[in-house]
Amino acid sequence: MTDYRITNFLSTENKNINKKSLCTFPTPITKLDTISNELGLNLFFKRDDLTGLGIGGNKLRKLEYLLADAISVGATHIITLGGIQSNHCAQTALASKKLGLDCTVIIAGKAPKKEDYSGNLKLYQLLGTNVCIVPDFPDRQPKAEQLISELESKNEKPYLVPVGGLTDIGALGYINAMGELSEQIKSSGQNYDYIVVPTGSGGTLSGIVPGKELFSINSEIIGVAIEPSDEMVPDHVNEFTKIANNALKRISSDIMVNPEDFNIDFNVAYDYAVMRELELSTIKQVAQKEAIFLDPVYTSRAFAGFLNLVKKGKFEIGSSVLFWFTGGAGAIFADKYKF
Ligand SMILES: Cc1ncc(COP(=O)(O)O)c(C=O)c1O
Repeated sequence: MTDYRITNFLSTENKNINKKSLCTFPTPITKLDTISNELGLNLFFKRDDLTGLGIGGNKLRKLEYLLADAISVGATHIITLGGIQSNHCAQTALASKKLGLDCTVIIAGKAPKKEDYSGNLKLYQLLGTNVCIVPDFPDRQPKAEQLISELESKNEKPYLVPVGGLTDIGALGYINAMGELSEQIKSSGQNYDYIVVPTGSGGTLSGIVPGKELFSINSEIIGVAIEPSDEMVPDHVNEFTKIANNALKRISSDIMVNPEDFNIDFNVAYDYAVMRELELSTIKQVAQKEAIFLDPVYTSRAFAGFLNLVKKGKFEIGSSVLFWFTGGAGAIFADKYKF
């Protein structure tokens, strides 16, 4: 039987790392036979849509560490921020519920009437999560600060999870995921020449890049950016490097990563949460050929970006590519996205 103790590597080997188990690991790796044949590649998905809590998704890996940290400092109420259909917020709501913590999501955008809620907004109704809708992205942080003061005045202990869970503690989730992947590579004998990662806040990539070094995974990592460079975190490559190195320090590793280790491609970067014909046709293509549903915001755009790179000859014929399928199922059912 495969030994997957490595999936707990960071928590068992490092006593100062807090982790709350939320997911079912390892997530499977699925070969996409039809699309592989068409492209002349061996294409696999790492199925983080199947992380196992609620509707799954990548953020749960980060939340195992972030919410454990929240509990360790005595937090009673989790606050996080995102867009109106944010998968990050939905998964934070799920994880908080599972761990018995109150949660408020502060989401920005056009507020529908409650009876018209769809997609991830519906999940909040089922979960009983506090939802605070503000008109625009810059309104979220002041609202969070106001809520923090209100909660503190009631002797509650709020804990703010930043947009996308982009912190060194959150990055531990994807460092750990690379430990999981290295075990899957060893037990299956299947190596990957490339790993393609949908990239939004960059928290996932900030764990995958140091995890590659820590677990000696011999793949080229390509982050496919969802948004243009100037919409991302300021000075993002240096910021990701700092987060990755702080995460490595937390686990007492001597390894360091450099800005050049972050290879981010912007060939499909466009306005956040706008589903165009490109994303829609990519969702349909993968659904109709492989019976897997990409999401309208991240994975469809990133997969389209990957297909563009195939057309440009980035991948040698016959090479093996692992596309990290980061989930996002909830947004497919949002009325905003018309099919
Ligand atoms: C489905 C999905 N994929 C990818 C990402 C991007 O991950 P990160 O913000 O860690 O770059 C997100 C972020 O919300 C997401 O919801």
